[in-house]
Amino acid sequence: MTNPGFRFAGVGAVLPDTIVTNDDLGKNMDTSDQWIRERTGIGSRRVGGTTSGLAAEAAALAMKRANVGPDDIDQLLLATTSPDYMLPGTAPAVAEILGLDCGAIDIQAACSGWVYGLVMANGLLLQGEERILVVGAETLDRMTDYTDRGTGILFGNGAGAAVVEKDSSGAGELLGWDLGADGKYIKILWAEHAGTMKMDGKEVFRQAVIAIQRSANAALDRAGLTVEDIDFVIPHQANIRIVEAAWKRLGFTMEQTGMRLEETGNTSAASIPLALDKVLDDGRISDGDTVMFIGFGAGMTWATTIVRWSGDDRSAVTS
Ligand code: UT7
Repeated sequence: MTNPGFRFAGVGAVLPDTIVTNDDLGKNMDTSDQWIRERTGIGSRRVGGTTSGLAAEAAALAMKRANVGPDDIDQLLLATTSPDYMLPGTAPAVAEILGLDCGAIDIQAACSGWVYGLVMANGLLLQGEERILVVGAETLDRMTDYTDRGTGILFGNGAGAAVVEKDSSGAGELLGWDLGADGKYIKILWAEHAGTMKMDGKEVFRQAVIAIQRSANAALDRAGLTVEDIDFVIPHQANIRIVEAAWKRLGFTMEQTGMRLEETGNTSAASIPLALDKVLDDGRISDGDTVMFIGFGAGMTWATTIVRWSGDDRSAVTS
């Protein structure tokens, strides 16, 4: 099959309005702003909204930047671990808000979901589709126990989205990828039906560092690239110390890393597109750059993609 190319026609992201600072959390649990910042890199997080509402808002922004309408979207992939309902999935509700008339499906791969979605989108482009909407959206406040300082400090709400499309010019391309899962680790981070998240934080930390290193290397091997070929990396935003520990092993630097954790907390499937949106705002990625996205999280799951960047040029956007 001919390589269809892979272009980020538009990216968008939103955070709900209500900010919860570390000091706010300190009023109800035995913690402090200093401890949370030093051990996680998180300064505040957002709460409120619905998963479908945030997803649709981020997607509408991405579509506007891509200059496309509802009829131009061929499939919607929504990565979320906090769906609006147990049944049905949230993607059809997002499609309804946006006025899409296409397939719409949820991806539940926890914090790796949006990167899983990119790989699936590339597969759909290979099968002949033109343009896929890949969204990550979460309302984790509904699954967070704010009396448990081991988990209650970490999570937040938000959404990010990308319109990815064929790139016949050959400029943009998905160069390499890796997807993985290991169900042995379900009970290090999980939630029962209608329950809150339970976590063995130390084990998640340890397994996350291993998964990042393994997945990044597998994607590099598939692409025939080395760490030195990567211009920019956006990892899942869980804990700055996880990223620093993994980077020490891999050889990436924080200067080539996109982070948004300080203002968002861990927004699971939304975290990478939320960070990407900021990176584009700051003009840190340009056409032709080799960019790696690395997701990891509950399951455990992990997912990496390496792309030659083409598309969303924020400097050309006026609003
Ligand atoms: O998408 C993946 C989602 N999950 C994650 O990314 C979680 C990965 N794990 C982590 O981020 C870290 O393990 C945590 C942030 C959850 C915990 O940090 P840590 O450095 O592993 O702390 P710890 O559990 O080893 O606890 C150290 C100390 C303990 O006190 P003692 O026993 O030394 O007296 C804890 O009781 O810090 C205490 N502690 C806290 N103190 C203030 C634990 N949580 C808090 C807190 N505030 N929120």
